Amino acid sequence: MTLERGATRLRPWLDTDIPFLMRLRNDVALQAQLLTQARGSNEAKVRQWLRDRTALPGRMLLVIAESATDAPLGFVQVSDLDPLNRRGELGIGLAHEAQGHGHGGRALALLLEHLRTTRGLRKMSLQVRHDNQQAIRCYERAGFVRCGLLRSHVHIEGAWRDVILMECLLEATG
Ligand SMILES: CC(C)(COP(=O)(O)OP(=O)(O)OC[C@H]1O[C@@H](n2cnc3c(N)ncnc32)[C@H](O)[C@@H]1OP(=O)(O)O)[C@@H](O)C(=O)NCCC(=O)NCCS
Repeated sequence: MTLERGATRLRPWLDTDIPFLMRLRNDVALQAQLLTQARGSNEAKVRQWLRDRTALPGRMLLVIAESATDAPLGFVQVSDLDPLNRRGELGIGLAHEAQGHGHGGRALALLLEHLRTTRGLRKMSLQVRHDNQQAIRCYERAGFVRCGLLRSHVHIEGAWRDVILMECLLEATG
């Protein structure tokens, strides 16, 4: 499955993406934005992560790539896919050099449209650090609204951080 809007493509992961994805998995600052820690991933661990995210039921992962070159820029993932209640949990990460060029906004629009029309989902939710203004802005532009606050919820970069809960009713995004 390949989805495309302007300069941004969503597609399944390829073997040639592994070195790039290993760099993201080992990027301490990026993983801290993703509410987790870099774990010293080697190629085998990255492959296992990709298998877990794509082969297990209730999960999906797509690579965000540059349309013109197909070069990988990051990834989007959905977890806790609940077919009964037709909802899931969303995550997104772009390499530093790919941020701030609209890829995140286009990737979210593509993914939400796909989840609504092809997967029949009606709602997505996510967690984001309260100090991650770039991500919050991007999510709001994609149709997410704040629906809760988990105070002092994660210990990242030496401090306890609040986490904002956001949700998006897919019917409302058109
Ligand atoms: C969050 C992320 C996916 C957004 O993708 P992106 O391609 O960088 O974002 P876009 O360029 O589509 O849009 C970002 C928006 O935030 C705005 N923005 C950028 N820096 C900002 C800041 N410091 N404060 C507030 N807004 C900011 C941009 O102006 C833009 O808004 P606009 O479209 O109204 O002009 C990407 O930056 C990323 O992967 N960050 C690191 C990982 C991460 O934080 N993931 C989310 C974890 S929950």
